[in-house]
Amino acid sequence: MSNEPIVSEHQIDKERLLRHVPLFAGLSADSLRALADVAWAGSVPAGAAIIEEGEELLGDEEGLYLLIDGTVEVRRGSSGGGDGQLLRTLGPGDFFGEMALIDGHPRSASVIATSEVHYLAVSRWDFHRRLRRDPDIALTIMATLSQRLRSRESDMI
Ligand code: CMP
Repeated sequence: MSNEPIVSEHQIDKERLLRHVPLFAGLSADSLRALADVAWAGSVPAGAAIIEEGEELLGDEEGLYLLIDGTVEVRRGSSGGGDGQLLRTLGPGDFFGEMALIDGHPRSASVIATSEVHYLAVSRWDFHRRLRRDPDIALTIMATLSQRLRSRESDMI
């Protein structure tokens, strides 16, 4: 990840940031450019909930989040703070928010910033379009889902 500060949307090079997200490592320059064109940048302060468990995806604006800078906690049963069950801590290069986009169910967990967080987000519509065009992305998402499932199962033993 870059050490340069991320200041505002027009100052960041989304293509360069996306190139460093492992999920998109295999994309061609053209595909990366196309994705950068539709991704938007956002940031939240420490303590903010980026995703809230149980939220329905109503519009197309809800999306997949790529963590550029900062850390988040994935929590189930949280009221928006540090309570509930901690499922995972994620850092730069990780993605989240893929599950509801894939199965159409409400958000499975809350994702809460534990520091100031900068992210790129891709809408459900663009995410689906990307998945159809790039089977490698679909495979990487499946591998991550499978790892998350395995670690959940081993936590429950
Ligand atoms: P989604 O259900 O859309 O919104 C909450 C997100 O938290 C979910 O997608 C995943 O990205 C993430 N998440 C849910 N459960 C886990 C888990 N066990 N490990 C890591 N991430 C998870």
